[in-house]
Amino acid sequence: MERFDLPLSVPFTHRVCFTHDAFSAGNPLLREILAEGGGRRALVYLEEAVAEAWPTLPQLITDYLSASSVQLHSLHIMPGAEVCKADDNLVRHVWDQIEREKIDRHSYVLCLGGGAFLDAVGFGAATAHRGVRLVRFPTTTLSQDDSGVGVKNGINAFGKKNWIGSFSVPYAVINDFTFLHSQDPEISRLGLIEAIKVALVKDAEFFSWIEANATALATLEKHALEECIQRSALWHARHITLGGDPFEMGSSRPLDFGHWAAHKLEQLSGFALSHAAAVAVGLWLDVCYSVKSGLLRESDACRIKKVLETMGMPMFDPHLLELDASGELALLAGLEEFREHLGGRLTVLLLRAPGDSTDVHHMDHGIISGCIKDMQKCNNLVTG
Ligand SMILES: NC(=O)c1ccc[n+]([C@@H]2O[C@H](COP(=O)([O-])OP(=O)(O)OC[C@H]3O[C@@H](n4cnc5c(N)ncnc54)[C@H](O)[C@@H]3O)[C@@H](O)[C@H]2O)c1
Ligand SMILES: [Zn+2]
Repeated sequence: MERFDLPLSVPFTHRVCFTHDAFSAGNPLLREILAEGGGRRALVYLEEAVAEAWPTLPQLITDYLSASSVQLHSLHIMPGAEVCKADDNLVRHVWDQIEREKIDRHSYVLCLGGGAFLDAVGFGAATAHRGVRLVRFPTTTLSQDDSGVGVKNGINAFGKKNWIGSFSVPYAVINDFTFLHSQDPEISRLGLIEAIKVALVKDAEFFSWIEANATALATLEKHALEECIQRSALWHARHITLGGDPFEMGSSRPLDFGHWAAHKLEQLSGFALSHAAAVAVGLWLDVCYSVKSGLLRESDACRIKKVLETMGMPMFDPHLLELDASGELALLAGLEEFREHLGGRLTVLLLRAPGDSTDVHHMDHGIISGCIKDMQKCNNLVTG
């Protein structure tokens, strides 16, 4: 018998850009990025809600690309939001168009939309020809400060989030702050939860900055919002590129603080609860758990509570109380589902202080129920 373990590493460049008005004729960013890649053809997927908010956008995109090195083959305006990743219709649409328009692996799919739309179109692009270049334009706060700069895509299946999907480094991510202006202010504000999350996990100074700017962030003050998004996006991108585990081969997932409960709450609500709202509740649960298990000082939890309250983040949801057929909290199954999705050993990140975290491999069901009882006393309820 002979065995050869040959190392294989594939270098990627993660291009993450920040700009305003990416499709104005005077903005060279996208033209340069497309020219660098050398591809000649492009397809555009534009989320319907974005097209409705920016009616001149399709023409702007067409004009912009006509003055670039690529030829626009077709532009598709399609519905987005969570329903677009509830089945494979949008993914199949992307496959059909890539096939019909002869988009090859050196061509581009440009995708403009919220996190859900990017996930579904991104999965289509990543699986056609085993990967067509994807240029993402995230258009929501959450997709700009977190998901859009990540290297994952996916759609929901078997009633579970992102069950089908792949790791795939986008060719480029262009965070155009201008798109944020048409967002629903509530959705925009909630999307900042991923910035709070990454600050708590990675950067005490960033958390202090959020604390000092919580009122400006709650009112979506332009400069505060843009700085917060950029700092959060760069932390996510840095973690992916420098953290040593871009495709999550290990068990630890530090960027998923609060997410074991969040994914389960989204599922228990039939996906009526948004990802951001579910993360806010899940994050607060894991902060409470960190205190009750003796890791985090109560004074630090009070600072976090004040930030969440000032920024109007939900800190309780009735689905936390839902019981399963055996009379157990239905939420608890989220721990095993989280483990299963990761593979390996259950690994949940808890906090020792803002900017200082630790992994645990077991969560005590009694402590979790105690936390939920305490959280219930808080009157900041999620309504949907
Ligand atoms: N791939 C990843 O690594 C990853 C990470 C975190 C979250 N996600 C996924 O991202 C999704 C959540 O993303 P989201 O918070 O952006 O929600 P979303 O995509 O559902 O968008 C929220 C709402 O805003 C609308 N919208 C989008 N852009 C707009 C704009 N500029 N103006 C007006 N309306 C606009 C959408 O139609 C939708 O109704 C979830 O499916 C979540 O699972 C993926
Ligand atoms: Zn998230």
